[in-house]
Amino acid sequence: MLNDTSPCTAAKYQRHSEHTLICRKVKIMQEIIAELEERRKRARLGGGQKRIDSQHSKGKLTARERIDVFLDEGSFEEWDMFVEHRCTEFGMQDTSTPGDGVVTGYGTVNGRQVFVYSQDFTVFGGSLSESHANKICKVMDQAMKVGAPVIGLNDSGGARIQEGVDSLAGYAEVFQRNVLASGVVPQISMIMGPCAGGAVYSPSMTDFIFMVEYTSYMFVTGPDVVKTVTHETVTAEELGGATTHTTKSGVADRAFANDMEALLYLRRFVDFLPLSNREQPPERPTPDPHDRIEMSLDTLIPDNPNKPYDMKELITKVVDEGDFFELQPNYAGNILIGFARMEGSTVGVVANQPMVLAGCLDIESSIKAARFVRFCDCFNIPIMTFVDVPGFLPGTSQEFNGIIKHGAKLLFAYAEATVPKVTVITRKAYGGAYDVMSSKHLRGDVNFAWPTAEIAVMGPKGAVEIIFRSDLGDDEKIAKRTEEYRTRFANPFIAGARGFIDDVIMPYSTRKRLCKSLRMLKNKDLENPWKKHDNIPL
Ligand code: HXC
Repeated sequence: MLNDTSPCTAAKYQRHSEHTLICRKVKIMQEIIAELEERRKRARLGGGQKRIDSQHSKGKLTARERIDVFLDEGSFEEWDMFVEHRCTEFGMQDTSTPGDGVVTGYGTVNGRQVFVYSQDFTVFGGSLSESHANKICKVMDQAMKVGAPVIGLNDSGGARIQEGVDSLAGYAEVFQRNVLASGVVPQISMIMGPCAGGAVYSPSMTDFIFMVEYTSYMFVTGPDVVKTVTHETVTAEELGGATTHTTKSGVADRAFANDMEALLYLRRFVDFLPLSNREQPPERPTPDPHDRIEMSLDTLIPDNPNKPYDMKELITKVVDEGDFFELQPNYAGNILIGFARMEGSTVGVVANQPMVLAGCLDIESSIKAARFVRFCDCFNIPIMTFVDVPGFLPGTSQEFNGIIKHGAKLLFAYAEATVPKVTVITRKAYGGAYDVMSSKHLRGDVNFAWPTAEIAVMGPKGAVEIIFRSDLGDDEKIAKRTEEYRTRFANPFIAGARGFIDDVIMPYSTRKRLCKSLRMLKNKDLENPWKKHDNIPL
């Protein structure tokens, strides 16, 4: 055969050799692909089936399942699946898991790009190693370059204890990026498991923190350390569960019943936000007419000025399709904050709530609203403010705890904000709180009042008791003076006469007037004087 040198045989031989070569190549490729698949399979299994089952038995999804629910189907591009830790202490060299306890990458939510990291509790309790931190930093850096939000799905026992200072260094790298990204791209933390030690400080520097009820905790030091140091006996749930952080500490913005609900709400929430500070808020077409009138608002304010009413009713009747995504609903209820849309565009809503503490501003409500106003200002989101505020809450507790400094936070936040600011005073706007709540004097763009508005230094009764102190005891005289004061000052027309109120509007027309104002403000351009940064009273 080998001696047969006819051209036909030579060609046959060459084809045969080529075929053998291709077969060999295909085989090698198949082996490579099989190895890749095997490696991917190993990475996808995280800490193993037993730990996955344990995660499920607690009602929790795995890191990858969470990403699947959160992102648009098929949109996830994973990075660094094969990254492993480099620790050799405590026998760690024998216990490496590809991915090292965090799944990272990017994808879309309703077609809009987001970066995501999802900690895998099945791998060393989702604890943060140097490599784990590097993976998070990589997506944060990329998100900053392209201008897209960073969403963290947190489920972590804190610093990887075996790694010592390498882990602490990793945390600090993440913290530094949290700070540099603040105000550049939205950062959101969803707490979906125990988050202890370092694991709470990165979320605390992000813009919003959400939690899952009964399966997530946040604390700097856990119940055991608390017991040793302060001798207090407290459960993890009491110390740092979702109820604690959404009602007592105000650390978390909202809590959800389970992983699935939390992730679906997170998708809805992301829809309200611009992708970065370089972009305008997203627009979503709405069937709700901009000039929809709402006759029931004409009777919202009770005849008795001391009777409360629900400010939430006004908000939901004014915004597109009644869709108000409230934040911190169970904390500092005397002020309401949240996102909504007007004519399809996102607005931040801030409103005093007369149902709680008569709508007074206190320490907690000032801090709550100030941070929200600042977020809106960072990300070009217009602020719509509804005012019914009898003043700052008096009392030793407020003064001793620094209402002067904390109240100033809200004042500062409104005063520095350059985004469109539209305001409606529905009833009381008394004293310093009138100034604070997005008044004309703090560069409010459009300031409306309802006919029921009372804009004054204080309420008629308090005012008369001070300026007519000599008449105290003479009820008839005091009643007459009070009525005089009410007629003279408890209305919107004195402020209107000075141009502090742009118009007195009928309650039923509130949506129409606000939509027009916001449309007029679409191209508002205002800049604060150059500075390195301001010095808000912290
Ligand atoms: C390494 C950890 C770990 C950690 C948990 N694991 N936390 N591994 N470093 N920080 C491992 C466990 O060994 C276990 O491994 C697995 O994760 C699951 O943990 P369990 O304890 O079995 O789970 P659970 O009972 O649900 O309790 C979860 C937990 C608890 C509450 C998070 O594990 C815990 O208290 N961990 C330590 C928390 C902590 O003190 N972290 C350091 C904080 S100091 P196996 O193999 O059994 O599955 C810090 C400093 C940073 O973070 C400061 C920066 C500013």
